[in-house]
Amino acid sequence: METESQLARLGLFDARVPRYTSYPTAPQFSDAVGAGQFVDWIRALTPGSQISLYLHVPFCRRLCWFCACRTQGTHSEDPVIAYVETLKTEVRLLGSLLPPGVTLSRLHWGGGTPTMMPAGAMSELAGTVFEVLPMGKDAEFSVEIDPNEIDEARLDALAAAGMNRASIGVQDFDAEIQAIIGRDQTYEVTRDAVTMIRERGVKSLNADILYGLPNQTRARLSDSVQKLLSLSPDRVALYGYAHVPWMARRQQMIPSDTLPRPEERLSLFDAARRLFHWDGYEDIGIDHFARPHDGLAVAARTGMLRRNFQGYTDDTAAALVGLGASSISRFPQGFAQMDSATSSWTKAVREGRFAIHRGHAFRGEDLLRARIIEALMCDFRVRTAELVADFGLSRPMADALFAPVAEAFGDFVVHDAEGLSIPMPGRPLTRMIAARFDAYSMARTGHSSAI
Ligand SMILES: C[S@@+](CC[C@H](N)C(=O)[O-])C[C@H]1O[C@@H](n2cnc3c(N)ncnc32)[C@H](O)[C@@H]1O
Ligand code: SF4
Repeated sequence: METESQLARLGLFDARVPRYTSYPTAPQFSDAVGAGQFVDWIRALTPGSQISLYLHVPFCRRLCWFCACRTQGTHSEDPVIAYVETLKTEVRLLGSLLPPGVTLSRLHWGGGTPTMMPAGAMSELAGTVFEVLPMGKDAEFSVEIDPNEIDEARLDALAAAGMNRASIGVQDFDAEIQAIIGRDQTYEVTRDAVTMIRERGVKSLNADILYGLPNQTRARLSDSVQKLLSLSPDRVALYGYAHVPWMARRQQMIPSDTLPRPEERLSLFDAARRLFHWDGYEDIGIDHFARPHDGLAVAARTGMLRRNFQGYTDDTAAALVGLGASSISRFPQGFAQMDSATSSWTKAVREGRFAIHRGHAFRGEDLLRARIIEALMCDFRVRTAELVADFGLSRPMADALFAPVAEAFGDFVVHDAEGLSIPMPGRPLTRMIAARFDAYSMARTGHSSAI
């Protein structure tokens, strides 16, 4: 295929580049940001404004071998209950610092598996959050739900607390692939979880599914996608499996010779994407799909799509505060990350402090480059007029930024009076094109493949 060989020449199949859920990316954070700065940034929030809150619950009953998330395995609920107690203390600590009248735009519980919490702990945690930060107008409350780790009682607790969005992990329905990636989850278990979630009036359901898994073929992935479509999710995240065993040691259980080659990954993505299109889903950025009525699709059509640590979002709040071990916050001034060791995080909160140990305060061209990268990842285009209006850049300066990228990527990007855009054939290269605007991109070894 001509396009494929052109993509190969540009290095798509060899490159390792970030997914740009932030800029700068988390590996670039340093200890220059600590708890003091985090507290200052919270106090500087605008009184009466809306913010978003992410709560990280790093526990799972089973540890899937493919998973690169920060989480720990436990069969017992005791450590989860103890963790939630500490999380409630941390929420109250946040509340003691917030300017008056701040409300919630989005509340998201992620992990790990937040549904490891017993129903009572869920209700208490939600109650503590809403005491400190009431839900604002049109607020959304979403929870990551593992279909193997949910029941009626826990869903009742979540629904009573106001959950109106949910995300389920599917990964792949194929039993042989599930065996290789260490995840056992029948179609029936997933279907029943979806039914129970829908019965509780959840208006938007997301499902995560992976391409690039061991022994995956177009036919097998198509079968999984069709099964997923039979459950009618409103949104789908079609993530490329990131095989990074040097970072996620449990991935060493997955033999690397079973993994599809990069060219095959491109073909797998293409097979799945066609099925989503046939079923009426719209493209959302590089790897999400949504039904036309869904908020993400509306945001993508109206230029309001944003990128954050959870992937794509239509949230426009100025700040996202992350609580819980390893969580990351974004403020207008920069990023701050909690210690990922649950023990250090717990100790800090018990002493009445936040366990911030890394971060990044925006400086120099950071915000300009962040805007360009986010615009490419969300809209496949950067408008010169916006950079002129928002950053005081002159047109020749914008052209000087875009020209070398246009030269490097030939027909895969368009550089004109409007700005820089990525037409359809260049879209598999989006992360690589975005990386050209990354001023910190020297050390890239820790990232996953570009497709
Ligand atoms: C925190 S996990 C989620 C949820 C929940 N514990 C479950 O298993 O259903 C969020 C998502 O990250 C994605 N993920 C985890 N490891 C990944 C990897 N190595 N490559 C790509 N995506 C990955 C999976 O699709 C997963 O559903
Ligand atoms: S995929 Fe979900 S259940 Fe499996 S280890 Fe990762 S977070 Fe835990």
